[in-house]
Amino acid sequence: MHLIVDTDTAGDDAISLLVALRTPWVDVHGITINVGNVRFDQQVENALKTVEVAERAEQVPVYPGASVPLLRPWVSAEYVHGADGMGEVYFPPVRQRPETTHAVPFLLEASHRWNGSLVIVAQAPLTNLALAVRQDPTFPSRVAQLWVMGGSGNGIGNIEPLSEYNFFVDPEAAAIVFSAGFNLYMVGWDVVLEASILGPVEFDQIRRMNTPWSRFFLQTQKSTLEFNQRDGGINGTSHPDSLTMAMALDNRIWHDGADYYVAIETRGEFTRGTSVVDRLNVWKKPANAHVCLAADANRFKQVLLTLLETGQTAIQPS
Ligand code: BDR
Ligand code: CA
Repeated sequence: MHLIVDTDTAGDDAISLLVALRTPWVDVHGITINVGNVRFDQQVENALKTVEVAERAEQVPVYPGASVPLLRPWVSAEYVHGADGMGEVYFPPVRQRPETTHAVPFLLEASHRWNGSLVIVAQAPLTNLALAVRQDPTFPSRVAQLWVMGGSGNGIGNIEPLSEYNFFVDPEAAAIVFSAGFNLYMVGWDVVLEASILGPVEFDQIRRMNTPWSRFFLQTQKSTLEFNQRDGGINGTSHPDSLTMAMALDNRIWHDGADYYVAIETRGEFTRGTSVVDRLNVWKKPANAHVCLAADANRFKQVLLTLLETGQTAIQPS
């Protein structure tokens, strides 16, 4: 698989990168960094650190992209992931440095090089992808699949009652991407809550593994775990980005979904960035997204646990 990951690397973004980087048949051609969870330069360092942890140092380039949303000021999620985004471990910088090419020209160039077979997993606000579309509206036609972690198929949000963080941060970018003509798979926060929570049982298992991978997991997920237990009403860690990645690699994790027209709210007073999924086809508009409605939680958890225990996923090409 020819893959690019667009990420605001912090917390679960790092684990999602590990899923891709430690699946042998997946070629991660580049990691592009987008404004999101924590300070932009810190996100770049976190991606580089994760590439090193994946034992792929100097083999997978990291391209810094948009460091601010299209129109709005940045909204941080440091209160969830820790100030460094990596559980407040403050890893020292690694040897590999970011590329000097911006993420957007890299994405456009890659879409020509792997025309029709490129898969992009977008696990951050959609600024880089929106900029790529604005620069070249034919870009979506060359991307085989765009997997988007964001929004919510059934309404529940995480940063506002109805709004999920990635779309909340850059609603205009999300609106551009959803109307651009991508073959787009949307994995929303509702599915994340149903299918991706690792709770006390899994944490016991992970603590007992004591591998470099399980230790990295426990370090980097510490802040999210504490936040979830304290403020989020979740006794465990949530894995939105890893779930989306695992589904892109193993379609059997996609349990249920349908094609809908999805609008992104850019003007609402209480609904900034909400994904409005027209499940009743009230608007009679052609579908613009495959919306995931349910995922196979057991299969997903097995992917993560196998990775943390053995250093490799057991995902086979679907
Ligand atoms: C999304 O927001 C970020 O905090 C996570 O990295 C994930 O991509 C979940 O709403
Ligand atoms: Ca993310």
